[in-house]
Amino acid sequence: MSAMRRPRLINRQPAEATGLRDELAAGLLAPSAHVSPKFLYDSLGSRLFAAITEVEEYYPTRTEAGIFNAHAEQIAASIGPGCTLVDLGAGNCAKACNLFPTLKPARYVAVDISVDFLAESLNYLQFRHPEMDVTGLGCDFSSRLDLPDEIGSGPRVLFYPGSSIGNFTPDQALVFLQQARDASQGGGMLIGIDLVKPQAILDAAYDDALGITAAFNLNLLNAVNRQLGANFGVSNFRHIAFFNAEQSRIEMHLEARHTNTVTWPGGERCFVAGERIHTENSYKYTVDRANSLLNAAGFRRTRCWTDPKGWFALFWATV
Ligand SMILES: C[S@@+](CC[C@H](N)C(=O)[O-])C[C@H]1O[C@@H](n2cnc3c(N)ncnc32)[C@H](O)[C@@H]1O
Repeated sequence: MSAMRRPRLINRQPAEATGLRDELAAGLLAPSAHVSPKFLYDSLGSRLFAAITEVEEYYPTRTEAGIFNAHAEQIAASIGPGCTLVDLGAGNCAKACNLFPTLKPARYVAVDISVDFLAESLNYLQFRHPEMDVTGLGCDFSSRLDLPDEIGSGPRVLFYPGSSIGNFTPDQALVFLQQARDASQGGGMLIGIDLVKPQAILDAAYDDALGITAAFNLNLLNAVNRQLGANFGVSNFRHIAFFNAEQSRIEMHLEARHTNTVTWPGGERCFVAGERIHTENSYKYTVDRANSLLNAAGFRRTRCWTDPKGWFALFWATV
């Protein structure tokens, strides 16, 4: 009996987290406190996000899947078989895995900041697809997307679903997409982008009745406590999410239920009742604005598919 194939894991996350601690402390001490959404994804946060994708109010995942299903043949024909599929922010790898029968990639590279969760997800994926050449890359691509040669040479299809691009401001998104264009090495980018829609639908998607998104947001405080050695009390804060129409973005915040002081080695901050920590933006685009952004990043040719309600768009973008 042959031994089970193991996915290769390249871990580029620094063992010493001084930089992350400095980044956290600076955000917490800023006049308007903020924490990067990348800190939402510890092991529990990654599981909570997977649960969010199943709640009724969270339309993006099932809408995006519907677009893939409806246009599978066209999408596959545009990309062609045998690609190196690089999944940016792979999470539980479920979306890419569902595309394997259609896209028929030769190689799968899953990239994520949440390394333990990624390793677990890839073991399961490899078990289901023993024939697939699988590599995991643990890294933080928020400041720079830089894919090492070790993942293989040749054109790459960068898969960036779920409208994760919306976590960047439009200026940051432009820089990220330019880096993605270079990293694709002449391949392309398959990217899912959430579209502007009635406010009530957007608000509900980020504040579901079961409270899963609230738990996801509040769990960030546990991650900060661990990373920074802080003493946030989760019950001292509440989840807030709303669509900011002027900025065309969902904002998530954690709001102090009452005045409380948080300390960590080398710092402290008193949060007065009602004061907020900004934890995530999720920018919503129109098809035209998304297209312009891709063009500005150097993706000159784009194909776009949307769902019947026009809620979500999937782009295949090439140089
Ligand atoms: C919104 S989830 C999307 C997961 C999955 N791709 C999907 O569409 O359902 C974002 C994913 O990106 C990862 N992520 C967030 N910030 C990251 C960063 N700065 N560098 C690498 N991965 C990141 C998270 O761990 C998480 O798995």
